[in-house]
Amino acid sequence: MDYQQILENIYLKIQPYAQVGKQADYIPALANVDPDQFGMCINTVQGEVFMQGNATTRFSIQSISKVFLLAMCLSFEGEELWRRVGKEPSGTAFNSLVQLEVEKGIPRNPFINAGAIVLADVLLKHLKHPKEDFLRFVRNLCGNDSISYNEEVARSEREKSYLNAAIANLLKYHHNIEGEIEEVLHFYFLQCSIEMSCHDLSNAFLAFAHYSPFEYGEIKLTSSQVKRMNAIMQTCGFYDEAGEFSYLVGLPGKSGVGGGIAAIYPQRYSVAVWSPRLNQKGNSVMGIKALELLTTETEDSIF
Ligand code: DON
Repeated sequence: MDYQQILENIYLKIQPYAQVGKQADYIPALANVDPDQFGMCINTVQGEVFMQGNATTRFSIQSISKVFLLAMCLSFEGEELWRRVGKEPSGTAFNSLVQLEVEKGIPRNPFINAGAIVLADVLLKHLKHPKEDFLRFVRNLCGNDSISYNEEVARSEREKSYLNAAIANLLKYHHNIEGEIEEVLHFYFLQCSIEMSCHDLSNAFLAFAHYSPFEYGEIKLTSSQVKRMNAIMQTCGFYDEAGEFSYLVGLPGKSGVGGGIAAIYPQRYSVAVWSPRLNQKGNSVMGIKALELLTTETEDSIF
């Protein structure tokens, strides 16, 4: 498969979408990002790397980080984790409060904001130095020690965090947050603020494409747990657009409001794409189109 040629074809074919959508602005620091950027990177399980466009430019990975949170929480808690968070698609926006009230403080899944705020609380219980330990795990996964948080983005999000603060309060009311709300939100915003390039992200997600035991320092997952993480990415990785993404792309993946998307073809490749302009559901317009073209041009998806 000539992935480099495929990436070049994709780049040409997505140009008509270059001005569609706009970058997230509810996090003030993200509104300053140049929206006219596009990068893509594929890592095969054989160790090849293919890049296109701004593939080495760092951006705010935002919700993609929830995959790293889940990996750590599953490693620490195993099946116990599912007592506090579900594994069903929500069909609602990533920051929706509606189900959380009706379902008495148990978030539908770990990838909506409510679910990830619970995961942040779980990790605060297990990690001695949450800020350093989380970053070390992510650096290990992508093999790049220069990855870091953008504390300015985290602070900017905290300042306008009316909805996430409401979610955290509702969780606490239902006894699904053990720690202090302020500390949990602080850690949640911090881990969302990690900056990585498509190259870094694709490297990190390659770990979820291999179905051999996963071991990065103290974080260990069985191959069955890795498969199950992919199942959750498939059904819940794109909020109320998860069905559409499955239909168009046919790979498990996870998006973020920074405009990044990481996806996996199990036992074959990982791929990351980034372009800041988002659609109404908060997912990258060019990113989704590029991944749709990838599985169309290769005539291969998991289905
Ligand atoms: O909590 C938030 O709203 C952001 N830090 C992350 C949301 C996000 O990335 C949703 N993804 N499409």
